[in-house]
Amino acid sequence: MSLDKPYLDVPGTTIFDADQSRKGYWLNQFCMSLMKAENRARFKADEDAYLAEWPMTDEQKAAVRARDLNWAMKTGGNIYFLSKLGATDGLSFQQMAGSMTGMSEQQYRDMMVAGGRSPEGNRVVGEGGDAQGAMSQSAAWKAWEEKTQKDLSAAVQQAQAATESGAKGRARISASVYSSHVPAIGAAIDHGKTAEPYWAPLFKGFEPSKQWMKEHTPDVIFLVYNDHATNFDLSVIPTFAIGTAAEFEPADEGYGPRPVPKVMGHPRLASHIAQSVIQQDFDLTIVNDLKVDHGLTVPMNLMFGSPAQWPCRVIPFHVNVVQYPVPSGARCFALGQAIRRAIESYDEPLNVQIWGTGGMSHQLQGPRAGLINADWDNRFLDRLIADPKGLSTMPHIDYVREAGSEGIELVMWLIARGAMADVAGGPAPKVAHRFFHVPASNTAVGHLILENKG
Ligand code: DHB
Ligand code: FE
Repeated sequence: MSLDKPYLDVPGTTIFDADQSRKGYWLNQFCMSLMKAENRARFKADEDAYLAEWPMTDEQKAAVRARDLNWAMKTGGNIYFLSKLGATDGLSFQQMAGSMTGMSEQQYRDMMVAGGRSPEGNRVVGEGGDAQGAMSQSAAWKAWEEKTQKDLSAAVQQAQAATESGAKGRARISASVYSSHVPAIGAAIDHGKTAEPYWAPLFKGFEPSKQWMKEHTPDVIFLVYNDHATNFDLSVIPTFAIGTAAEFEPADEGYGPRPVPKVMGHPRLASHIAQSVIQQDFDLTIVNDLKVDHGLTVPMNLMFGSPAQWPCRVIPFHVNVVQYPVPSGARCFALGQAIRRAIESYDEPLNVQIWGTGGMSHQLQGPRAGLINADWDNRFLDRLIADPKGLSTMPHIDYVREAGSEGIELVMWLIARGAMADVAGGPAPKVAHRFFHVPASNTAVGHLILENKG
């Protein structure tokens, strides 16, 4: 994988990136739990019983029992999280850091008093510095490694064989899909109302889409949506957030969770995208635990119907359009281009679609609720197809005035559009389907499928 991880050859150092974070999720969550006095007391009273409550790996639990911080970090632990374990044992940060160096507490303290460890010879693996040796290991870790060596060599052989026989190539974006995500559409599906006169014309407009999707099922959907006060409450609302978990349950938005399958993620590709996009100077929030709301599940139903399992993996990508300031159209369009570069640098021949959801015109609040602007919406669709760059410079106030306060969701469509090949100098996309319908609940429903050619 062509991930740019220049920090891998820094001696005696583990950088906590999205891959480590995913690996260490439950270990670090366990550590966080020790911030409560009551949990510390329970852990101290019976470590095994307390650890049994956490879905950590056996190795992570063994590393915790051994209090071997190097070992814990190897399994995904992060020092700031692990420090809660040290604190529970009454250790200072200096004692914890020193415990990983192979020095005695006194030796480490003396080294710090004498000015600290020198970077000379410790910048790159293979230089002659004093941090170049093997990591200090507890007896428990050594015993663990001996025991697992056999399994490990088998796993390495297997991985090598898979790499050699595996198909070579890069991921590519084959198409983008745009759709409103009105929750009432989900309710109509869940309550068997799709054939009612109010709903039938809407679902008819998505019949060609379902057919198209049968013929163009991707491996992965990069699905841009906004969390609607579901996963993110007002304590934290990230501007851009990527879901790196292995699975995402449908959220309970107050009516009970929708009866739709859980969404299977693609942690490796998601981590790769996070790494690449952040290195392109977009600040993404990495989310390891996320429940997905109607913003994501309703478009899935519109495109796939109601299967027992979703037929592909999904990377949820949240954009804040709830609390101002929300990102500009231009920022979203540029982000889409960065996402395209990230996806197309992933060394596995995956077929990836990128979806933009939300909109079109709607206002859900105040005396102006119910605003619909079909002309404006259709011009938005025209320009999204033929002039996305020009469209991306439209200021927020135009969305609000013309398409209603919640019409601002449409900036998310520019992320998907920015990821299409023509924006990077390729051929113009083919419009495989276009549909517009008023109303669904409070909203004008718009829908487009754009295929990348070649
Ligand atoms: C409606 C539309 C939305 O996009 C949404 O998030 C919630 C409600 C509606 O039209 O009712
Ligand atoms: Fe919405």
